[in-house]
Amino acid sequence: MEKQRIAVLASGSGSNAEEILRHFEGSALAEVVWVGCNRPEAQAGVYGRTRALGLETTPIQADQLKDGTVLKMLRLARADWVVLAGFLLRIPVEMVRDFQGSMINIHPSLLPLFGGKGMYGMHVHRAVKAAGAEESGMTIHWVTEEYDEGDVIFQASCAVKPDDEPEQIAQKVAQLEHRYFARTIDALIRDAVAQTSLQHE
Ligand code: GRF
Repeated sequence: MEKQRIAVLASGSGSNAEEILRHFEGSALAEVVWVGCNRPEAQAGVYGRTRALGLETTPIQADQLKDGTVLKMLRLARADWVVLAGFLLRIPVEMVRDFQGSMINIHPSLLPLFGGKGMYGMHVHRAVKAAGAEESGMTIHWVTEEYDEGDVIFQASCAVKPDDEPEQIAQKVAQLEHRYFARTIDALIRDAVAQTSLQHE
């Protein structure tokens, strides 16, 4: 069977993108074939991280996302899966529809808590701290036309101590993301491939 092809979209540091690339290095199931970033290299660590692993990140513009150019890039890369790994721009409806059931996102809280508009990066962890929450975590979910509202695929939680600062919460959540994101993607792809081969039996 041909390997499943994964495209990753990131906006910043790219630590999750790196974990995903590393996970699928040498995998017989899937490979990361394309990584795109909407920020220039000077502002986004993801370029250096993927380059070190032999893959150049493609810079993209917000306009190219809106006008369908990014969708064309994904088709050209023959992506089967799209993974949003810290990607901050809204995905246009056409692209969501094209990758229905094969586009997933990671969010640094236990959705539906601390999700929605303006809830990204440190804003999330500051809100968790301000609410006095005793736990936080991460959510991997399907991407649908409504932001952060697709069905949950996987969640993992961590304790938040009263004296944890937002930076410490962020660190705990990032650890969970690095531990579980790639594994979850792997399991999803494995399931989908098994389903397809069953249908063809
Ligand atoms: C992660 O916390 C992710 O949940 C959020 O943005 C952060 C991205 O970090 N959406 P990185 O760019 O993967 O290091």
